[in-house]
Amino acid sequence: MGALANLNGQIMPLEEVKVSALDRGFLFGDAVYEVVRVYQGRPFLEEEHFQRLRRSLESIRIAGVDLARLRRRVHDTIEAGKFREAMFYIQITRGASMPRKHAFPKQATPLELIWVEEYHDGPTAEARKTGVGVITHPDLRWHRCGIKSTNLLANVLANQAAYEAGCAEALLYLPDGTLTEASHSSFFWVQHDAVYTTPSRDNILPGITRALVLGLASRANITMREGHLRRDDLAKIDELFLTGTTTEVMPVVRIDGNPVGRGQPGPVTRKLHEVYTQALREFLAKP
Ligand code: PDD
Repeated sequence: MGALANLNGQIMPLEEVKVSALDRGFLFGDAVYEVVRVYQGRPFLEEEHFQRLRRSLESIRIAGVDLARLRRRVHDTIEAGKFREAMFYIQITRGASMPRKHAFPKQATPLELIWVEEYHDGPTAEARKTGVGVITHPDLRWHRCGIKSTNLLANVLANQAAYEAGCAEALLYLPDGTLTEASHSSFFWVQHDAVYTTPSRDNILPGITRALVLGLASRANITMREGHLRRDDLAKIDELFLTGTTTEVMPVVRIDGNPVGRGQPGPVTRKLHEVYTQALREFLAKP
């Protein structure tokens, strides 16, 4: 099954979706989005993703989006394509209006785009076994990274730099060397048997997977703390891992070409992926 879209309530093949050149998502990046993983036909952490979408919409003052209706559309589209292992993407833009003006138009109807596509976890599952390499890269983003906006140019450039270095991700750092998050994932590190991650009050996206992993730590008897990691201190850490919707929990074994700990996926990271998988199994076992 090819990717199936739902544009303002109408289901169609993704390649048939047409959006106005005057759409403010296209012109200004005036839009927010979500990415959600579907396992066995069921969206995982759906409520959490929709709550974050609601917060993103409120933050940029896009009003009039019926989120319950949007959720039904997601379910209808998954059902229409009989998707099992999949992901869906939602993008809400402020809509199209003429003439092009930066300030909000008086009359514009938000554009509500969903698409569902098959997701093959194979390559990522392989990478979870061996771990991946990352680079560090300046965090060139704006001051509202808690909003899941489609303004992703700084993330795109950082991720491209990682790709060109043969790496999976870029850890972003501020001018003082403090690491914030990665270009499209959150990160945690392990030091002296405790696990740390950047506080969500900092200028980062409050990752849904990050929150799940924080909540699951007690199951694995792991102490979690919020803290700050500086580039200069990377040699002192024992493990580092990424989290994200399709990434799940991904060990990082090299940073800027230097090994993390012993240069292999560490026991705490493995344990946390195990409890993640267990939480997913429990979700799927529920009726
Ligand atoms: N990225 N940080 C950033 C900057 C992100 O873009 C993402 C998600 C995350 C992880 O969040 P979550 O656990 O909610 O997926 C952290 C999505 C998947 C993307 O842009 O494709």
